[in-house]
This record gives sequence, C-alpha cells and structure tokens, in this order.
Amino acid sequence: MAINTSLRIGLFGFGVVGEGLYKALQQTPTLQATIVKICIKNKEKKRNAPADLFTLEKDDILNDTSINVVVEVIDDTAAAFTIVKTALLNGKAVVSASKKMIAENLPELLQLQLQTQLPFLYEASACASIPVIRNLEEYFDNDLLHSIKGIINGSTNFILTKMFEEKLSFTDALLLAQQLGFAESNPTLDVEGFDAANKWSILLAHAYGIVIHPNKLLFNGIQNIQSADALVAKDKGYEIKLVASAKKLSNGKVAAYVLPQFVSSQNPLSFVRNEYNGAVIESSFADKQFFYGKGAGSFPTASAVLSDIGALRYSYRYEYKKLYHQTPHTLDNNFYVRTYISFENLQHIPKEKLEWVEEWHSAEGRSYIVAVLHVKHLAESNWWREKNVSLILHEDAIIENIDIVTVKKKSLELAGL
Ligand code: HSE
Repeated sequence: MAINTSLRIGLFGFGVVGEGLYKALQQTPTLQATIVKICIKNKEKKRNAPADLFTLEKDDILNDTSINVVVEVIDDTAAAFTIVKTALLNGKAVVSASKKMIAENLPELLQLQLQTQLPFLYEASACASIPVIRNLEEYFDNDLLHSIKGIINGSTNFILTKMFEEKLSFTDALLLAQQLGFAESNPTLDVEGFDAANKWSILLAHAYGIVIHPNKLLFNGIQNIQSADALVAKDKGYEIKLVASAKKLSNGKVAAYVLPQFVSSQNPLSFVRNEYNGAVIESSFADKQFFYGKGAGSFPTASAVLSDIGALRYSYRYEYKKLYHQTPHTLDNNFYVRTYISFENLQHIPKEKLEWVEEWHSAEGRSYIVAVLHVKHLAESNWWREKNVSLILHEDAIIENIDIVTVKKKSLELAGL
C-alpha cells in the first residue's frame, strides 16, 4: 500500500512504548504522521496527552476509514492479535511491537499479509532499536548466512550485568529493570527465556525462512544461574550471557536455541552490557559483523516503531525472501553440545546421558562438571532446568563430529566410568 497522503495513525496502547512513540512523533514533523486516536484500557490513569485523543473503544480506530495506519503496542497478546487481524482486513497498514503475539501467530499473520497485500511491520519486536529484521530480510542471502548469535533480551542482560559487576541481588536487579521499563509486565517472560525465544522465532523466519512456534524451540533463561557460576566463569576468562544462537550445520540444516552461555572477552557479545542488545552475524564474504544498540526501553523501542512508520511512505513490506523466494531452511537437532553444569547433588544429574566429562570439580555446597550432551536429550528432558541445576553452554558449544563422540564415549567405558 503506497501511502501518499498523510499518515493518520490510530495507536493502541499508551504505556512505556506508546507514550515514547507519541513524544518521538512530536519531535519528527518531517514524517508527516499524526496520531489521531489512542485506544487505552484504563481510563483512570493520568496521561500526558490531550484527553480528546483517547478512547476506550477499539472500533473508534478500527472502523475509522480516515485512519490508514494502526500502531499496536499493547501487552495483551490475544487482544493484540485481534486488533492486527481486524486492522489488516479493514485495509490499514499495521506496525506492531508485540513479539509474543507475532511469534505465536506467525503462520496466520503470514497468511493475512498474503491475503491483504498490506504492510505489517514489526522491527521493534526484536532487539528494539537495532534494525535487525530489516537487515536480515534485505541484506543477507540465506546461503551466505553462516550464523547469527545475539543477546536479544535487555532485562536479563541488565540483571546479569548488575548482579555480577555491581553485586546487586537478583531481586534488586530485576526490580530496577522493572522500574526502568525494560521488563515485561510479567517478568517471568524475561527471566525464564520466553521473551528471547519469542524474538528468536521471529528472527529465524527472517534469517533462514524457518517458521517455528517459540514453544518448540530449545530455550532456558537465567533463573538458575548462581554467583558461584559467575566465579567459575570469571576464573576461566568468561562472562555469562543469555545468548540466542542459530548456526548452519555441515548438513545445511540449522541448529537454533536460546541458552545461557559463556562468552569470552574476544567475543563482541561480551561488550554488551545492561539493557543493550547485540547480534553477531557471520556470512561468507562479509565475515563477521556486530550490531549493537539498546534492546529495551521507551525511546529505543519507539525509534524502531517510528522507522517502520517512515517505511510505510515507500510502501515497504517484508517479502519473507528466505521463506518464499528461496528454499527455507529446516532445524536440526542431530548434534552435541559442550556444557558447564553446576549442581548441589550429583543425584540430580543423569550420568548415563553424559557423552563424556571433561572436567569435574567437587566442592562443599556446589559442584560442577564440564560435559558433552546430545542436544536431543536436552530437548526431551527437564532435569537441567530444575532449580538446583544450572546449565551453561560453552562458547563454541556445537560438536558435529560424531566420530569424536563415539571414541570419547568408548574411552570412558574402557576406563570403567
Ligand atoms: N522485556 C524486553 C527486554 C523488552 O527486556 O528485552 C524489549 O523487548
């Protein structure tokens, strides 16, 4: 849809992002975009905008034919999906920041875009201020994209930074992330990795044409990481980060997951602190590139929404090139990973599932091992997510060479372990 007239926006949501967008739009008159109506849920809350802009009726926007753009930045996943769907079917371009809604409904949203041929843009849904979706979509041919690894949740990165650099407790660090508007209204989504998994499922579609529901992804958060783990990491020259990874395997398929990981000081991701996000992309000719920017917060998120609104001027739509114009990749879980596992009691570790153990450190209270496991086993079990266990991947965790695994396993058997 080419929008040559002025952009008349109906905004859903006036929270951290919505208000940020309202203020940012006031400072960018060249965009010729005006918010003409704002739909909110709670009429009692004091709002920093003229009262006549607000409505409680979603149809005041969805049925208003003078509104050509709907921007949706609300927290309620089901309501957000209904709004996006109705807006597209009513002929409006849509910009959204609702990562959970997008990730969970991607197949239907793809269908709606095919059906309506209307723009549905959502740059703010992953890595906030970093234009990573448009980059993956436009710049990287999937044959060239070897891997993408990123810190894509600002709150968990903020918490890890505050805990391990400033010695704040987990609770205090989380509280601060909430006060600063980084955390989800249900912070479990951040802390236990759900938010990063949602974002990863969106990015996998644009990076590799893989459409996967986030609950089918292998992921965990930072809820079990202990200060003892950070000490071991430091000793070995690493930091701990929650890293989303996707890497092309030698069979051409893709290994993808979101898990805590050791990150060395040579890795650009070690540079990513607090609420910042970062993504390292490796491709055939460009080699390594590092994208860095604020991944949460009012203005950084609004900046991506603003950029999408601007893109409507030149009829920009995602083409989903990797999905529709090339052969989409598929995920694979036929590989092994090198892991660090700390635990209170050895009974909590299924020893028979460890392919081999490289290090074993026993101490009072907490012990750890460095061991190799099949990723299929991780995907099918839960012991490593339990409260008293903390599992962290090594930096280059993937082992594809099955021969090595067989030989090592044999040597363990011979040694009677
Ligand atoms: N809760 C999210 C985060 C907000 O911390 O990254 C930005 O998507």
